[in-house]
Amino acid sequence: MKILQLDPSLTYRPEPENHQYRNYKDGPLVDRVKMTYNLMHTYQTVDFVKKKNALWSSCTHKKMSVMEALSLLDNLVDESDPDVDFPNSFHAYQTAEGIRKAHPDKDWFQLVGLLHDIGKILALENEPQWAVVGDTFPVGCKFQKSIVFSDTTFKNNPDAKHPVYSTEYGIYEPNCGLEKVLMSWGHDGNVNLCIY
Ligand SMILES: [Fe+2]
Ligand SMILES: [Fe+2]
Repeated sequence: MKILQLDPSLTYRPEPENHQYRNYKDGPLVDRVKMTYNLMHTYQTVDFVKKKNALWSSCTHKKMSVMEALSLLDNLVDESDPDVDFPNSFHAYQTAEGIRKAHPDKDWFQLVGLLHDIGKILALENEPQWAVVGDTFPVGCKFQKSIVFSDTTFKNNPDAKHPVYSTEYGIYEPNCGLEKVLMSWGHDGNVNLCIY
């Protein structure tokens, strides 16, 4: 007898056919997305990044399992994402499932997909969304044109007028290597809550 096994996660995969991802020009969520980037690009400065790195680098804030952290993402809708208007836990499973489909032999890759945005739980720890979600970018040098919305969103960032931070190389040497670069603070960096 053949047992038909239904996959309940199919219900939670709102992935339309031929969807154009990362459209920052129009679409139903563009105002919310732009507002989040506006705040991010105004307040992410060298000083802010250094302060947040110091605050969150101790691994003493909280202890939880990976599954607990993933479940917490049930409570977070990422306001910077033009493609995702549902809790980020869905996005984690959706990403892992997408990778499983394309790379069924690479279990490590599927796991990376599941965990890649787990740092967004910081937005549930009294950090504002603009400090946690969205694309990260180098600080301490001129803000690059390739950053989304950069033509309008950096005008009130004090670093954009700083005598060193606003220059082409800023605090860096040419070809200094990525490990020397200070990136805007957020979910892509360290999550030092102690997740085991
Ligand atoms: Fe991310
Ligand atoms: Fe993601």
